Amino acid sequence: MKILVTGGAGFIGSNIVDSYIEAGHDVIVVDDLSSGCIENINSKARFYQVDIQSTEIVKIIEEERPNIINHHAAQKSVPKSVDDPILDANINVIGLLNLLNAAVSAQVSKIIFASSGGALSGNTDVIPTSENCEPSLISPYAITKYISEKYLHFYQITYGLNYTVLRYSNVYGPRQNADGECGVVPIFMNNILNNNQSYLFTYEDMPLGTTRDYVYVADVCKANISALENGDNNIFNIGTGKEISISEIYNIILDMSSRSELPLIRKAERKGDVRRSALCSKKANKDLKWEASTSLHQGIRETFSFLLSKHR
Ligand SMILES: NC(=O)c1ccc[n+]([C@@H]2O[C@H](COP(=O)([O-])OP(=O)(O)OC[C@H]3O[C@@H](n4cnc5c(N)ncnc54)[C@H](O)[C@@H]3O)[C@@H](O)[C@H]2O)c1
Repeated sequence: MKILVTGGAGFIGSNIVDSYIEAGHDVIVVDDLSSGCIENINSKARFYQVDIQSTEIVKIIEEERPNIINHHAAQKSVPKSVDDPILDANINVIGLLNLLNAAVSAQVSKIIFASSGGALSGNTDVIPTSENCEPSLISPYAITKYISEKYLHFYQITYGLNYTVLRYSNVYGPRQNADGECGVVPIFMNNILNNNQSYLFTYEDMPLGTTRDYVYVADVCKANISALENGDNNIFNIGTGKEISISEIYNIILDMSSRSELPLIRKAERKGDVRRSALCSKKANKDLKWEASTSLHQGIRETFSFLLSKHR
């Protein structure tokens, strides 16, 4: 298959590109390198450095005529979306519409879209949260991800462009940047390795910090492989179903680093942050034959050795 991966120089996108190439697919990467980097791009992929909001991307899709577009390029930071909702909407909504129009005219058969289960669930009490839970949108990032899902449905019923939405929990693993709240694993690792303090955003009733569902990137790649042939016109949660507090993550990393004395500094809550989050992935289990098979300790160990190899 010929697959165009947007955001293929970023953390999740580049890992997906590797797994598609390993499975024998012909892969095109589109990325403006705003947060991704050239070293992440598989040498067997064709690379175009363009913005998904530009007219150039329309020409590329027209010329390359991929069977599938896997869309991972995005403004992915919740705090940034709170500070600048226009920037967030331009990249996440206008950029997507630009791709969808181009996909329709180039007769692309399907688009796989990276959405966010944690952001869409907001502050729900139903944990682990299923896809059917009424979205509670408490950040511009959550709003643009949700609207994107609605546009995908519109393009499907109107133009027959198929889609699969993968709503990730918190993804971690090799190549993740130490920025934003999604990057808490590499942020803590870097801080511990450099003997720097780390900060914990807490609510009064949650002294161990917010909770998240951490899914390893290799497991996310498997969901993207399955979505090439399964799950048309459907939405799937991709997570482990386990709720882990941010301080638990810190302690696991601290233990692995064998540095004992570097306590977390507590800070007040952060605007737009979801308090608790874990996703129920039974639907992906059934229809995509997918499950998260990497344990948290195993995933953190592999991420740590990747980071250590970069530090040397
Ligand atoms: N990391 C997570 O835990 C997580 C959770 C849920 C959903 N997601 C979604 O998964 C996707 C990938 O996230 P990631 O963590 O790999 O982030 P990332 O920042 O590493 O990757 C995003 C990539 O998109 C590129 N990009 C950004 N704006 C672009 C534009 N206008 N045109 C072309 N390229 C552009 C960046 O350069 C980068 O390479 C995003 O859509 C994100 O919202 C991530």
